[in-house]
Formats: sequence, structure tokens, C-alpha cells
Amino acid sequence: MSVVQQKVVFVGTIASSSALDRLTILKGFIAIENGKITKIGSTEELNTNNTSKELLDFKKVVLDENQLLIPGFIDCHTHAPQFPNIGLGLDRPLLEWLDKYTFPLESKYVDVNFAKSIYGKVVQRLINNGTTTACYFGSLHLDGTLSLVDSAIKHGQRALVGKVSMNIVNDAGYYNDTAKELRDVECFVQKVLECKNDLVYPVVTPRFAVSCDATLMSGLSDIANRYGCRIQSHISENVKEIEHVLDVNPGCKSYSEVYDKSNILNDKCIMAHAVYLSEEEMSLLVSRGVSVAHCPASNTRLRSGLCPVRELIHAGLTVGLGTDVSGGDSSSILDAMRRAMDVSSHLEMLDTSVTRPALNWKEVFYLATLGGAKALRLDDKIGNFEVGKDFDAQLIDVFANGGQIDKYDYTMEGNEQDRVSQLLQRFIYLGDDRNITQVYIKGRKVKG
Ligand code: GUN
Ligand code: FE
Repeated sequence: MSVVQQKVVFVGTIASSSALDRLTILKGFIAIENGKITKIGSTEELNTNNTSKELLDFKKVVLDENQLLIPGFIDCHTHAPQFPNIGLGLDRPLLEWLDKYTFPLESKYVDVNFAKSIYGKVVQRLINNGTTTACYFGSLHLDGTLSLVDSAIKHGQRALVGKVSMNIVNDAGYYNDTAKELRDVECFVQKVLECKNDLVYPVVTPRFAVSCDATLMSGLSDIANRYGCRIQSHISENVKEIEHVLDVNPGCKSYSEVYDKSNILNDKCIMAHAVYLSEEEMSLLVSRGVSVAHCPASNTRLRSGLCPVRELIHAGLTVGLGTDVSGGDSSSILDAMRRAMDVSSHLEMLDTSVTRPALNWKEVFYLATLGGAKALRLDDKIGNFEVGKDFDAQLIDVFANGGQIDKYDYTMEGNEQDRVSQLLQRFIYLGDDRNITQVYIKGRKVKG
């Protein structure tokens, strides 16, 4: 891994969002000192005497006309131990898939050497895909999940990592006794905090209300509060899952209420899925400050359902995107952006009464960057290019050799602003890791 360049200025086309409906494409420059953005401006400003003097001792990186600088992608929900199953075993619905494929695989991470051999590749894969921040579920195992933390630190990735908690019996024998689980989680949180690495954070991670009882969840909520940790879990992903949760919690009217009674819902809580929330549940989550990781690939592959993201956003929820490997069959947030547009388009086509239109490419770009940063409560540091934020970025080469995007002797009508907007549009619809030629996390080059 390269060292952080002390002072760098990128000159060229820079795109980033400041709101769902606000994408800015700037021809200009962005100056970075010690990993932080210190100045942003237009080409005209760059050419003024004052600015050129200020940036005299900066290393200059000049982009060509087909390159773009964009913020790093943020994966709000993925399961690192499930990568060996990616693209496999998607023939069963959620609860059967967990029992038949997922719990048996995750059980193997009791072997720390196995864990290490997988996690190095997982973190590297995400970085190759432009994911500068990932919010990970690990496995039930303390040492195995600590090796995921080590791997993120080694690769310089910004990572939120949770040791998964489960105390309900299953066929794979993949659960812990409640007292041991609470001890292990507290130890995990302490060990991650002891790393004193400003890019990694421990996350308290009750798997979901099918795997955790109220005693465990309340204990986990207490740990999260004492250490100021984020909490992550799954909510309302699949109809059978919801029925089961309500069956075993007869005193609760909704899935959300089950979590609320255990004090899991707060403004540091990230819930994956939220496909079937009632309006009442949406209001409850909004009032508690919960954010949602929308995982369209997984919702489609496991046939869980079509998540009404526009409704969630309209209700006031903060939404980011998640790949949810290996329920999701792709570890790429770029792919998640397209899948989010697909699901949202399908909903629009299926329901003629839907007055809110499908998400467009600019909106999913926001969800993949600033939306994700807000969902993970990291928008004071990352998510877009603003002075004072860390420089987490990707250099995009739209016509990269070997990529899917060919250059034709034709362009749509328009001015230079339209041309660069079309470059970004093509990357979003057609790009892949071959177009992501460089990746930076807090100013350190981690790819390219
Ligand atoms: N719900 C509980 N665990 C899981 C998991 O590993 N993947 C998905 N998609 N949903 C879950
Ligand atoms: Fe998941």
C-alpha cells in the first residue's frame, strides 16, 4: 500500500452529489493535504495568481477529457464470510437458504486461518470495485471477525465491522449461549477500539429477530450504548421471516416493535432491507433515527420482494445501498445502483397508481455515495467532495481498455457540461471495475 501523498491537486472533471436531486459536475480542481480536501474550485479559479501560488508545491494530477473523479462507493451492508458462496445456492427462499447454505459456510470461520484466507480477498475485491467504505457482517466468531478487522486495516479500507450475534438454536449448531455471546461482543468492541485506527469501527450486530431473543438484543443494546457503537441488523426482508417473528413475539404488532422493545432502534442503527414496512413502522423508524440499507440484488435473487425505496425516502428514512453478498450475487455497488433502478422501475410498471417515479441514475449515484455516508453516520467525513472531508475517491476511465464502454464517432447533442454528464451516465449504466483505474481512501492510493 502506498503512503499518503502530503499535497496533491487533481485537475479535471469532478462529480459529486450534495442531495438526492443535486449532482454537481465541475470542471476544475480539488486539492488534498494529508488525506483531507482543503480546496475545491473551477478551472478559472485554478488559473488565478493566488490559487496557482497556493498550489505551487502540490503534486498535480491532470485528468484527460474522458476521466472523471467521483467519491468512493459506500456499501452499507455485506456479509464478508459469505463470499465463498457468491453466485451459489440461490435456489431457496431466505430462511431455507440461511439453514442450507449460509450457516454451514459461516460455521467454518471458527478456523481463523480459513477466515484470514478469505477476508484478504474480500476486502481487496471491494476496493477493486471502488468501495472505499464497507459496513460488514462478520461471523459468530470473535477471532475470525477480528481477522476481518485486520484485513481492512491492512488494505487501508474504511470499515464498520460487526461480530454477528445469534443465540437461537438452528440445525447447523451455529449460535452461542447468551452470556458467552455478550462477553464476546464486548471483547470484540474493546479490541477494535484498541486498534485506534481512525478508519475502522466496531458495530454491534444482532443477526435478526429470528436468530436473537429479547434478552440477547437488550444486552447488545446496552453494550452499544455504553461504547457509543453503531448497531446493524436485518428487518422485514421476507414474508415468511416476518410471520415467524410475529409468531414468536405475540405481544408485538410489528417486526419493528420487536426491535424497539429491545432498544435496538436508534440514530446509530442501520437496518438492511425494510421491504415490507407498514407506514406506521416507517414512522417509528424515522422517529428513532434508523437508516436503511437497500439491497436490491439480494431481494431479487432470494425472491424476497420489491423494496419500495421511493416510499422509504419519501417517509423520511435515510437510505444507502448494500450488496448483501451472498444473498446478493454481486459485490459491486455500481451493480447495486443498476439493480436499485431496475427494482424501482419494476415497481413503477407494476403499479399504475404509483405516482412517484422510478429512481434515476443521478439518484442512485447519490444513494451509493452521500446517501450511504448519511446512512452510516459518516457524512461529516465522507460521501462527497467538500472542503474538510476526507478524500475517498475513484478515478474513472470511461473508455478504459477492455471495458464495456466503447467510444463511437458520435456524441449526443449538447455542450461540454452535457458531454461530461453523459460520460458519468455511461459509466453508471455500463461500467465495471475495469473503468475504476484508481481508488483513494483518506488520500492513500489503494488501487492503481
Ligand atoms: N437475515 C438474517 N441473516 C441474513 C443473511 O445472512 N442474509 C440475508 N440476506 N438476510 C439475512
Ligand atoms: Fe444481509
